[in-house]
Amino acid sequence: MLTVRAPATSANLGSGFDVFGLALGAPADVIRVERAPETTIEVTGVGSQYIPDDPAKNTVGAVAEALDAPAYIRIDKGVRPSSGLGSSAASAAAAAVALDELYDRGRSREELVPVAAEGEALVSGEAHADNVAPALLGGFTVVTDDGVTRVDASLSLVACLPDITVSTRDARGVVPDSAALPDVVETVGNAATLAVGMARDDPDLVGRGMDDGIVTPERAALIDGYDAVREAALDAGATGVTVSGAGPALLAVCRRPDRRAVAAAMLDAFDDAGVESRAYQTRVGDGARLYR
Ligand code: HSE
Repeated sequence: MLTVRAPATSANLGSGFDVFGLALGAPADVIRVERAPETTIEVTGVGSQYIPDDPAKNTVGAVAEALDAPAYIRIDKGVRPSSGLGSSAASAAAAAVALDELYDRGRSREELVPVAAEGEALVSGEAHADNVAPALLGGFTVVTDDGVTRVDASLSLVACLPDITVSTRDARGVVPDSAALPDVVETVGNAATLAVGMARDDPDLVGRGMDDGIVTPERAALIDGYDAVREAALDAGATGVTVSGAGPALLAVCRRPDRRAVAAAMLDAFDDAGVESRAYQTRVGDGARLYR
């Protein structure tokens, strides 16, 4: 039996809608696979009751199909479904690495990105690679139609997950079809600032580059307490705060000594808004890891 751990991820980072992604040190999904004549899936862990074990409806089943690699697959969920923390991508990335290894296919991590994105397509309706790329490769990733670029980063992060439901499909429904040129120019400038900040591991530049006036305001409106929690995190030392992926989680970037205070401020602000939440104090992490 092979075991693979793949991390939670945060897509968009505000200014990089459908392009930027970041691997988190925690939480993570763990997948175990064993060759079998046909695919069967067992799901345990956080939110497992919401995940179908029918291979035709499961993100991991889609990956097994795409790789023509039937297996018994056990998924231990650490990343809550519909959290904005790349739950389906963690499972898809882990399955892609595990099944490729199980059947000795020898694909590179880059080659597994479109395979894992097939699993994403099944659950979100579109084959986004902005979560599966960092889940496979780790670090900070930039996904375009021409491929994936990545850099190592080690920024400190807080991911704060409120106990509310925002489905990816609903969150995509509020994304505007078009944007005014001045807004696009501002967002391009912010995205470029963020990418330079990642390459330099500079939390101030990254935080400054997270602002986005096109998609984030629409999505923030779906999250009770968003403005207060964002302000509280910034007051506690965060250099930037935005919606993580499609939400409802929020991602804050900060310096290591401020991380505990940022997490506490976010939890308190959600609490004041009448919303329960939990916070992951972490940093930019590695991609999927294989254990024999
Ligand atoms: N970039 C995607 C979105 C990530 O924000 O909708 C979630 O699949």
